[in-house]
Amino acid sequence: MKKNILLLILLFLIQISVSFASSNETDQQALLAFQNLIITSHNHFLANNWTKNTSFCSWYGVTCTEKRQRVVALALPSLQLQVTISPSLANLSFLSVLNLQNNSFRGGIPYGIGHMPRLRVIDVKNNQLNGSIPTSLFQVFNTGEFKNNSLTSIIPPSVGNATKLMNFDLSGNRVSGNIPKEVGNLSQLTDLYLYNNQLTGFIPATLFNISSLLALSLGINSLSGPLLLDEGNIVSNLNFLSTYHNQISGCIPSNICQLTELNFLSISINNITGDITRNIGCLSKLERFYIGENPMEGTVPTSLGNISTLQYLDCVDNWLKGKIPQELGKLSNLGELSIANNSNLIGQIPEAMFNITSRGEFQPLQVIIFRTLKNFTWETISLKGKFHCS
Ligand SMILES: *[C@@H]1O[C@H](CO)[C@@H](O)[C@H](O)[C@H]1NC(C)=O
Ligand SMILES: *[C@@H]1O[C@H](CO)[C@@H](O)[C@H](O)[C@H]1NC(C)=O
Ligand SMILES: *[C@@H]1O[C@H](CO)[C@@H](O)[C@H](O)[C@H]1NC(C)=O
Ligand SMILES: *[C@@H]1O[C@H](CO)[C@@H](O)[C@H](O)[C@H]1NC(C)=O
Ligand SMILES: *[C@@H]1O[C@H](CO)[C@@H](O)[C@H](O)[C@H]1NC(C)=O
Ligand SMILES: *[C@@H]1O[C@H](CO)[C@@H](O)[C@H](O)[C@H]1NC(C)=O
Ligand SMILES: *[C@@H]1O[C@H](CO)[C@@H](O)[C@H](O)[C@H]1NC(C)=O
Ligand SMILES: *[C@@H]1O[C@H](CO)[C@@H](O)[C@H](O)[C@H]1NC(C)=O
Ligand SMILES: *[C@@H]1O[C@H](CO)[C@@H](O)[C@H](O)[C@H]1NC(C)=O
Ligand SMILES: *[C@@H]1O[C@H](CO)[C@@H](O)[C@H](O)[C@H]1NC(C)=O
Ligand SMILES: *[C@@H]1O[C@H](CO)[C@@H](O)[C@H](O)[C@H]1NC(C)=O
Ligand SMILES: *[C@@H]1O[C@H](CO)[C@@H](O)[C@H](O)[C@H]1NC(C)=O
Repeated sequence: MKKNILLLILLFLIQISVSFASSNETDQQALLAFQNLIITSHNHFLANNWTKNTSFCSWYGVTCTEKRQRVVALALPSLQLQVTISPSLANLSFLSVLNLQNNSFRGGIPYGIGHMPRLRVIDVKNNQLNGSIPTSLFQVFNTGEFKNNSLTSIIPPSVGNATKLMNFDLSGNRVSGNIPKEVGNLSQLTDLYLYNNQLTGFIPATLFNISSLLALSLGINSLSGPLLLDEGNIVSNLNFLSTYHNQISGCIPSNICQLTELNFLSISINNITGDITRNIGCLSKLERFYIGENPMEGTVPTSLGNISTLQYLDCVDNWLKGKIPQELGKLSNLGELSIANNSNLIGQIPEAMFNITSRGEFQPLQVIIFRTLKNFTWETISLKGKFHCS
């Protein structure tokens, strides 16, 4: 006990001495260390702008607090910088926004960045960073843009402590391992983009219980298991959900109806079996619905005709059978119906569909039907639609 108190006092003293030591001098040194890398790489305009004879607060891309002359934001996007991120940046103890997007920064993300007490936004998308995201970094920021780098980290279970996290984009990296169920603890999360990585394992059901989450993008990974693990109640306001191009199996669960705010749903290129759930019409705000390239069977549900917002319906390469229901003629916003390669679909495109003038994005209605529709009859075709048949 005594030991602990002594330790606490010691820590307190260290902290005080650190904050005394830290000054605008430290900021200048930190920036100069960063600039050194830039000068040695090539003759960049920053080398002539970041000069010691002007205050660093007037340097390009640097924003300071007015009173204490401390760096609060560093924004150097799209400058073709081809260096490593200097570990000295971690000494900018007032920094809250770091924007280095769209350059060619390479090497790792310095460990110290995870200990910057005021850092809220880190945007390093479109660079060539490798290695892993320092675990401690998850505790600090609320916006993390890491898209399009070569990061290889896993997502650690301790991500669950990142309770301030709102936007997190790790897409287009080489992240492997599972999505830990602890992400369900991120109660402020609005956007989670993990597409185009090497993630495996199940989609944690806890993701569907984050009421703040609006966009969940998990496409192009190797995720498996069912679409929604939990058949229980879900509290979700998701409007974008993509599990495109994974190895998700099982049926479309009927509790998908609890995702009432969905306007984009893609489960294409997976291993989803069974029927398209009969009650799919419950997704009354859906605009884009992609279920192509799955081994799904059964008929096309008539309830799809109730989704008046629907603009794009893609069911290519499944095993759907039976007729296309007349009810689809009610879809006045439909712009594209893609039903190619469902060799057991029979009959005709419902006549009413040719009356769709498509107020949506696509005009006129396109119907993609090649290699499908036994006994397809051409009499029903008016010239309102554009057809691709082969
Ligand atoms: C600052 O120093 C640089 C060389 O380091 C020089 O080229 C520049 O003219 C100086 N600017 C001012 C305002 O003195
Ligand atoms: C650092 O702050 C002191 C006052 O706190 C000020 O006099 C000095 O000009 C500042 N230095 C820079 C480089 O802004
Ligand atoms: C550096 O760039 C900033 C922003 O464009 C400008 O205001 C400042 O005058 C420049 N300083 C020098 C020394 O060129
Ligand atoms: C990225 O940088 C290049 C130049 O290096 C520029 O042409 C392009 O518009 C930038 N893109 C974005 C999204 O800022
Ligand atoms: C941070 O600043 C301190 C004090 O100026 C210095 O000793 C240390 O080397 C700096 N750290 C980095 C990573 O540059
Ligand atoms: C990824 O980032 C690089 C810069 O490192 C850029 O050249 C490339 O266009 C980006 N790719 C995409 C898909 O944005
Ligand atoms: C990161 O890339 C650098 C070259 O830019 C390389 O030297 C280093 O080994 C790489 N590190 C990892 C962890 O892949
Ligand atoms: C983070 O979460 C883990 C368990 O997920 C916990 O053991 C740890 O104490 C938490 N705090 C920090 C700062 O990592
Ligand atoms: C985080 O999530 C786990 C599992 O979902 C849960 O057991 C735990 O209580 C949550 N809270 C914290 C602070 O880790
Ligand atoms: C698809 O799921 C079925 C069981 O539903 C399984 O037998 C088959 O191996 C899976 N195929 C792939 C490519 O994962
Ligand atoms: C299509 O519209 C025409 C008039 O524009 C109408 O006569 C016809 O009954 C409509 N067909 C269907 C199936 O709604
Ligand atoms: C195709 O049409 C022929 C006659 O036009 C009919 O005998 C046959 O039953 C139809 N087949 C299907 C699958 O509807």
